[in-house]
Amino acid sequence: MIGSIINGEEINTGNDSIDVKNPYNDEKMEEIALASDNEFEQAVTSAFDAFHDTMKDMPAHERSDILRKTADLMEERADEFAETIMKEAGKPIYFSRGEVQRSIQVLRFASEEAKHISGEVVPMDAAIDGDGRLGLVKHVPLGVVAAITPFNFPLNLSLHKIAPAIAAGNTVIFKPAEKTPISAHQLATLFHEAGLPDGVLNLLMGAGEIGEKLVTHDKVHKISFTGSLPVGRSIKESAGFKKVTLELGSNSPNIIFDDSNINDAVNMLVKGAFAFSGQVCISAQRIYVQKSAYDQFLKKYIQATEDLTIGDPASEETDIGPMISEEEAKRAKEWIDDAVENGAKVAAGGKRNGTILKPTIMTDVKSNMKIIADEVFAPIVSIIPFDTEEDVVNYSNDSIYGLQAGVFTKDIDRAFRVADKLEMGGVWINEISTYRQDNHPYGGVKQSGVGREGVKYAVDGMTETKFIGLKLKE
Ligand code: SIN
Repeated sequence: MIGSIINGEEINTGNDSIDVKNPYNDEKMEEIALASDNEFEQAVTSAFDAFHDTMKDMPAHERSDILRKTADLMEERADEFAETIMKEAGKPIYFSRGEVQRSIQVLRFASEEAKHISGEVVPMDAAIDGDGRLGLVKHVPLGVVAAITPFNFPLNLSLHKIAPAIAAGNTVIFKPAEKTPISAHQLATLFHEAGLPDGVLNLLMGAGEIGEKLVTHDKVHKISFTGSLPVGRSIKESAGFKKVTLELGSNSPNIIFDDSNINDAVNMLVKGAFAFSGQVCISAQRIYVQKSAYDQFLKKYIQATEDLTIGDPASEETDIGPMISEEEAKRAKEWIDDAVENGAKVAAGGKRNGTILKPTIMTDVKSNMKIIADEVFAPIVSIIPFDTEEDVVNYSNDSIYGLQAGVFTKDIDRAFRVADKLEMGGVWINEISTYRQDNHPYGGVKQSGVGREGVKYAVDGMTETKFIGLKLKE
């Protein structure tokens, strides 16, 4: 049994517990002791005290060293982390390894960023009464940051919150997804091995109520959350004066103009829609193909999808493993059935077996169907024809979401024109919406979220701007 880690100490007895199971074969991996109310308070106090006693005054070079050492240790244990992610999330081993490599890089970016948090001199004499004054801007840490993280990238999306928080000199309460707490436990242990002082990172095991209590606790200064729109909305409503970064949903569009390389677009977008069974916020959910290229694209896309290997995430050959739970797979299948009842067609897949939903291609869809309007978060993609540039921009923007999009064309003027018109936090040209590099700004407009990740940008959101002015002697 493993449990929460509070002030450097593991708490794994005497509480309610849950089992963590591999979603592919239902095998029990670990038992997790859930944090009690009392332990919740201890974690908050520990983070609050560690901020005032230790972290606030820890020099940047020390924070940077700890982050670099954590990256080095993770590199040594990369296989162990990848195996845990593969088993607890059901993520095919190839993608699990990729996640660990990205996580190491995030730690290294954060280690660098810790040394580059600089300030500014304000031109005080620009104001009429400002002569003889000196104004300085410093970027100071916020205090206690709550990192509430999802199951889909249990290591990397946790690090996108924890590493910038530490780089900026904050302390952290880390509440991982209930389905993927083992990699979270390994991560917290690694930070301590790398020399992070007790109390700076406190891991709290538990369900949604812990997140809710963190959002309203006076001693927590910032909430950084990745997850669903309803939970994000409720965090925003309850957070009061706390800062929030919210990475929420998307129904990402990808636009294929008829001058693009269709073979390349097909191969990239099969990964873009079905990697980790579509359980990625920027997964390609809507593919708009210009009418003259539609039939060719669809035929090749169906073939490439049917060639995917479905099965055990432990196998090197597997492209598509299970979804996170049978409940989620059933929900996704219901969305397919609902679309079919309303006139849509299944061009491939559409079948479920336990937690596995076959990669599914839908056509003849309408904009108000759930598989188009809502975030599917499952291996379901819709392929939709369009006539003109103007039409496809309108279809793409007809959404409550706006996280990331992909545009495929050889016409560079058109590419930038469309990129400018898309209401998105990010647009890729000749790359899938699903591609994310960990050092670019990442976050949404509309109901896809608030704030930005991408280490440098996340660090900005983990600091407060503080002004210090001096009136010089005359
Ligand atoms: C997400 O699902 O929000 C993150 C995608 C990624 O980091 O690749």
